Amino acid sequence: MPSLAKAQEVRKGLDRVIATSVSAGELMASVAKLLHENMLKYNWVGFYMLEPSANPPVLVLGPFQGAMTPHTRIPLNQGICGAAASTGKTLVIDDVSADSRYLACSTETKSEIVAPIFVKGKVVGELDIDSHFHAAFSAEDRELVEHCADLVGKFLETAK
Ligand code: SME
Repeated sequence: MPSLAKAQEVRKGLDRVIATSVSAGELMASVAKLLHENMLKYNWVGFYMLEPSANPPVLVLGPFQGAMTPHTRIPLNQGICGAAASTGKTLVIDDVSADSRYLACSTETKSEIVAPIFVKGKVVGELDIDSHFHAAFSAEDRELVEHCADLVGKFLETAK
């Protein structure tokens, strides 16, 4: 469970970055930094966005915080990331070693959450977070991560 003080600090930070960001890229970079710096168990935080008009569809790595990942392009039929984007559902994986879909980014990763980003009801990308801790993502974390994904979706929606 995130510490209340930290989660509140992140919420305040989100209000600030939403008011000052001039592009979706800047907003995503700031959200990744805020979460990575403040949420101790969020060890890798990054965005994957659907490449516009790619056929077949592919997720492309966007702004992130943490170690470089080998997975810079993920087809929708691969990984937890592909599953979240193709179903439009948030996925919380308490033990990545027990999920055959999992694509490893770091050998230290134990759990993962992926929340889709929607624009006008369609998935356009997702926010992916890995933790070095087993079952790191509680219902409160899910709420925070989905809130961040929604902020980016709303920003993109009004920017278009
Ligand atoms: N674990 C993800 C791949 C992305 S890296 O973790 C950054 C997956 O299974 O889709």
